[in-house]
Amino acid sequence: MSVAFTEVRHLKSRVGEEVALRGWVRNVRTSKTRFIDLRDGSGFVQCVVGAAEADPASYETAGQLTQECAIALTGLVQTHPKTGEPEILVKTLQLLAGSVDFPITPKDHGIEFLMENRTLWLRSKRQWAIIRIRHTISKAIRDFFDEDGFTLLDAPILTPSACEGTSTLFSTDYFHEGVAFLSQSGQLYQEPGVPAFGKTYCFGPTFRAEKSKTRRHLTEFWMVEPEMAFAGLEDVMQLGERMVKFILARVLTDRVEELKILERDVAPLEAALNLGFARMSYTESVAKLKELGSDINWGEDFGNDDETILMNAMDRPLWVHRFPKSFKAFYMEYDRENPDLAMGADLLAPEGYGEVIGGGERAIDMQYLLDQIKHHGLDQKDYEWYLDVRRFGGVQHAGFGMGLERAVAWICKLPHVRETIPYPRMMGTLRP
Ligand code: 4AD
Ligand code: MG
Repeated sequence: MSVAFTEVRHLKSRVGEEVALRGWVRNVRTSKTRFIDLRDGSGFVQCVVGAAEADPASYETAGQLTQECAIALTGLVQTHPKTGEPEILVKTLQLLAGSVDFPITPKDHGIEFLMENRTLWLRSKRQWAIIRIRHTISKAIRDFFDEDGFTLLDAPILTPSACEGTSTLFSTDYFHEGVAFLSQSGQLYQEPGVPAFGKTYCFGPTFRAEKSKTRRHLTEFWMVEPEMAFAGLEDVMQLGERMVKFILARVLTDRVEELKILERDVAPLEAALNLGFARMSYTESVAKLKELGSDINWGEDFGNDDETILMNAMDRPLWVHRFPKSFKAFYMEYDRENPDLAMGADLLAPEGYGEVIGGGERAIDMQYLLDQIKHHGLDQKDYEWYLDVRRFGGVQHAGFGMGLERAVAWICKLPHVRETIPYPRMMGTLRP
């Protein structure tokens, strides 16, 4: 067939013209006139099949359509008198592929059922909106770092050593070398890039064998990790704030329809875009948490509930900085003014969302780092290449990691990260 098909996203500029479309039927309402809710992946459009306008065979076919069957049609693009959106007055219609008993119907299904049918669930309007916002965030991240002079330095996924502690490593057999781990973070491979490229980033999948079933944890998630030479904690907080604002501006401009589908109130996102991010030291935030009713003690890491309590009380993202060294990773620089503190900073998102970014300044003193490696039960021989960064021109450097799914969850205001990624991997979830 040599018909030129139009994508639904282009219909606004085709009002008054006759077009050919193809896609899948979300829903049909048949009375005398038949109303087809059509989806082609680029958008949604209502197609009206009237006995007077459509040819008789097409009118007949329209009466037999089922949910998720595929069709092609031709018709006139007109503007819906109430919504102002384009709609199609159908002339001809043809069934391309049938669909019998599509499992996901407009009624309510439990989350377990939807997760089992994730491949089909992706066809829903809500999932469409989320995945398109995820795409836009991904693209904005790349554009931000590319435009800012960072070089993309892809990190390996199969690695010989731990970055974020040994308790959350997935391992696999690796020929004569014995065991390999799935990367928890590309950071250790960004740091050697600093003397080579000045500013680098990686953006890829990372893995944590987290035995926690929470609304924030995946076992496989995407992380963007920039690293900068001649930079410290302050630079991390400034860079992270600029990046998050760049992302927010992009989503608020380019994904208006999707945010509407999700019924996302954009006022808090606009506030985050327009206000300066807040800052608090860990010590100040523990005091604040106690005021808010948490039973946290100084020296303990925040629990999910602590982050929620703290961020329900904030109208903008919050940088928490200078944590106790005791629960932070081996590579963190210590605070020269208080050696018990690590020069790390986490960005917590408002509306109760909590940590989306973790980062900080990297230790550069060789003896300190060797002591840390030993103290954390790591084997120095696995880190010799990492130590070389300090041996040969080891200058101050810093960076951070942002989990893409945490950012998507906040920006879309989703109750759980499982909807932020096409095929979520969590404890207890490996299929489909
Ligand atoms: O705070 P994390 O563990 O920091 C690092 O991995 C550093 N090496 C990053 C760096 O400095 N280059 O993880 C960074 C971010 C978190 O703030 C969170 O957004 C996300 O990664 N993250 C997870 N997202 C989903 N599921 C999990 N299990 C996650 N663990 C971390
Ligand atoms: Mg963290």
